[in-house]
Amino acid sequence: MARARVVLDRDFTVAEVPRRIFGSFVEHMGRCVYTGIYEPGHPAADERGFRRDVLDLVTEMGPTVVRYPGGNFVSGYNWEDGVGPVEDRPVRLDGAWHTVETNAFGLHEFVEWSKLAGVEVMEAINLGTRGVDAARELVEYANHPGGTRLSDMRIANGAAEPFDIKLWCLGNELDGPWQIGHKTPEEYGRLAQEAAKAMRFVDPTIELVAVGSSNSGMPTFGTWEQTVLRHAYDEIDYISLHAYYQEHDGDAASFLASALDMDYFIESVISTADAIRASGKHRKQVDLSFDEWNVWYQSGLETEDQPHKVAATWRQHPRLIEDAYNVTDAVVVGTFLNSLLRHGDRVKIANQAQLVNVIAPIRSEPGGPAWRQSIFWPFARMSALARGQILRTAVSSDVIDTARHGGADAVDVSATWDAESGVVALFLANRGLADAADVEIALRGFAAGRVRSAEVLAAPEGGDRLTANSADGQPVGLRELDGVSADGETLTLRLPALSWAVVTVEVAPA
Ligand code: AHR
Repeated sequence: MARARVVLDRDFTVAEVPRRIFGSFVEHMGRCVYTGIYEPGHPAADERGFRRDVLDLVTEMGPTVVRYPGGNFVSGYNWEDGVGPVEDRPVRLDGAWHTVETNAFGLHEFVEWSKLAGVEVMEAINLGTRGVDAARELVEYANHPGGTRLSDMRIANGAAEPFDIKLWCLGNELDGPWQIGHKTPEEYGRLAQEAAKAMRFVDPTIELVAVGSSNSGMPTFGTWEQTVLRHAYDEIDYISLHAYYQEHDGDAASFLASALDMDYFIESVISTADAIRASGKHRKQVDLSFDEWNVWYQSGLETEDQPHKVAATWRQHPRLIEDAYNVTDAVVVGTFLNSLLRHGDRVKIANQAQLVNVIAPIRSEPGGPAWRQSIFWPFARMSALARGQILRTAVSSDVIDTARHGGADAVDVSATWDAESGVVALFLANRGLADAADVEIALRGFAAGRVRSAEVLAAPEGGDRLTANSADGQPVGLRELDGVSADGETLTLRLPALSWAVVTVEVAPA
């Protein structure tokens, strides 16, 4: 049996929960858009071709903001191809994913879909093959009320009201040699600065995310951020981070500790941004946008649909990286969300990549059903229940030694307190593969009342840590966590081996 003690204190808050950290991502890649969120002719599709069954799952999962249209795709994309009458839109080759893009779905369709999904749009611009001019023109098309060529074009294309898109990504992963239009940090820093200026001249209310490192292992990690921020600090609001993790060679213990790398990555970028703030004598603070993160089995995937292996033929929406997620993956995703939440004073935006079919919590089959993957659950519950203030967590836990990340707490925790509803929410993961964990939580400054809910995700009856959901059945989900008790200032519970849990408890100030 593992043990952990957690101390929370009503006075020790981190920040208000930044609701944009529960973001997601829709890229024109594989079947995320086509036969994912959009499939005209599907029995569940509405008159615009939006799949209502998928939309229902999206609403249940609760993303707050969705990044679009890429990803690597955006670095070769002309936004103009996706507006205007569908029959006039060009069919193009997408070099990023070796795919034929019909452009049947574009900006207007995405904005309409976002309204139905109740999410904010986070629009990425192409700074791979394009530049300042296309960037400012897109802002004018999207956000200017009318009376100019581009805004009147939007109106003629059916949107009388401006889209009023606030959040913009200045390109995607331009530090990566795989990116169309890959750049040096000097080249990108200057381009981001000038694009940002020109976009803000059109709409001063927008918020801008500069491209950071594609992962913490990039050879340019650190120097990329320094250079980009030296150029563009005054013009941008956020610097991005991307990271994907997987289990290597059956080393589940290291995989379960991957959030330690996320912590390191976040804290390093904060330090870099703050160092540039000091050396440049800037007053404002640049925050972080972790706008791609997830589990992604990038190696060991030897199928025809491996995206970076050029397929023999060009195809429309092929099956690309449709990872099936298991119980272990869900626990890891829970720890990623904990890391993001604990850093909520600086990580203000985060997007799980992606939303449907492509390394996604939601899967759908063309003409067939849609279903929840295991990783759907931590996201859905945290998006619904992480409200109010983030509480600092002081954890003393048994430690698990790992080959890749050193010692990791067996029990990983984040917590929020919503003064309005009088609820403390705890999000807990037990990284132990074999041992249950007894957890004692001291709620200083609170008087604990009724335990409102207690749910856990663990291996189902007859399954194991590799059990995954599929179109044929979804055995991985939440069940009630028995035995949670609240007594005065203390909450006690037992987490099953390898599990993720969420507990909400009614509290009053003590
Ligand atoms: O999300 C899949 C891909 O991963 C994105 O297109 C790219 O930005 C990243 O490398």
